Amino acid sequence: MRNKASLLNVLLATVVVVLVYQLVTQERAPKTETIQSQTVTNIPDSIPSKMVSVGPKGHIHPKPAVVVGSYSTEGEPNIMTAAWAGVVNSTPMSIGVSIRPSRKSYDNIIATKAFTVNVPSPQFVAHMDYAGNVSGYDDDKFKTMGLTPVKGDFVNAPYIGEFPIAIECEVTDMIDLGSHVQFIGKVIDTKVDSKYLKANNEVDIERINPIIFGGDYYYGFGQRLGQPWDIGKLFKEGEAPTYQPLAHENPTLASIYNRKSVRHYTDQKVSREQLRELVKAGMAAPTAANRQPWAFVAISDRSILDSLSGISPYTKMLKEATAAIVVFGDMNKALEGKGQPYWIQDCSAASQNILLAAESMGLGAVWTGVHPIKEREEVVRRVLNAPENVIPLNVIVVGYPTGEDKPKDKWVESNVHWEKW
Ligand SMILES: Cc1cc2nc3c(=O)[nH]c(=O)nc-3n(C[C@H](O)[C@H](O)[C@H](O)COP(=O)(O)O)c2cc1C
Repeated sequence: MRNKASLLNVLLATVVVVLVYQLVTQERAPKTETIQSQTVTNIPDSIPSKMVSVGPKGHIHPKPAVVVGSYSTEGEPNIMTAAWAGVVNSTPMSIGVSIRPSRKSYDNIIATKAFTVNVPSPQFVAHMDYAGNVSGYDDDKFKTMGLTPVKGDFVNAPYIGEFPIAIECEVTDMIDLGSHVQFIGKVIDTKVDSKYLKANNEVDIERINPIIFGGDYYYGFGQRLGQPWDIGKLFKEGEAPTYQPLAHENPTLASIYNRKSVRHYTDQKVSREQLRELVKAGMAAPTAANRQPWAFVAISDRSILDSLSGISPYTKMLKEATAAIVVFGDMNKALEGKGQPYWIQDCSAASQNILLAAESMGLGAVWTGVHPIKEREEVVRRVLNAPENVIPLNVIVVGYPTGEDKPKDKWVESNVHWEKW
């Protein structure tokens, strides 16, 4: 009897152990299995029309453009740019960087099991691009670009002394994914340039203004910084980038300093939405007594642009451009009497807003003068059917820039008088 009871006890205990084991192992089972077995319902018959399939692209945005530091077995420092990089775990804090086996950095990291991740700010956009264009097998990139390799305090890898953030990582895993091997690095230490730290030791991301890899351009917050595989030519002898905007940590100042008269355009069309935005920026300008004495004609019709190109010898670029905006002063809205000429200043402020907005939107524009030359005013009036009460101040020619036109540095100290002449 007692034997029977103890047998039952043993059986019961076994069942409990098996059940508990199943529960635990089920919880540990990879989540992917559960996801795979789920049946998805409520899929619409067709994809909503605004969504366009572009194939299996890695369009996670923003995508970083960081620079990975490593030592060769001989202790030579090297850097390479990586966009396939990101935080992959919290505890331990880990970063994944995917690197092709053909890179020197790959061989280095395989040998040293360590790397650093360096986050650039806009003033290093060309350095970052160069590090992603040229192999450490062909060049000492640190030396060419005048960057300082600093030996990591905790791992056998160099970090870039000039960049705002450097992260020291020790390799814990390597995953062969196909074209790339993903190195998982446990973060041992992170260093931040003290000028980018806020009082609570949080990183001031706005000031660092980290670089976003956007495919056809590098971006900072709201500004284009250059083109991949182009801006790094700054460090190549006998070569120059085709697109080299001035990087500035303030995006408004970046647009102001980068604005230039753009007279060479690609075939790409400027859309109606873009023209609308430009005109809206124009209307945001200040005006005397808030009279807003203006009217705008936005043009993208080829034959009208061609007709306007004959206004003067300085408007020939209208033949190449895909759009234009004509800024008119409206005498019915302008101040009366002595204050009437203020319309010129008001419309000029609107015109400058349009030029700056165009720069900030990646477009190029040039102001071509009409008023006060009567013959030009007459051509514009005739081509556009404009009424008698309006006066065309200018034609702002707009298009996508080819990159040939560059901004000028117009800062002349002697033009400034402090306090009195
Ligand atoms: C914006 C940008 C992102 C890049 N991302 C990666 C990347 O994630 N993985 C990779 O293997 N190569 C990437 N590259 C290419 C390498 O940085 C490039 O081949 C570099 O010259 C390798 O240098 P190394 O041979 O000295 O290691 C990128 C290049 C650029 C310009």
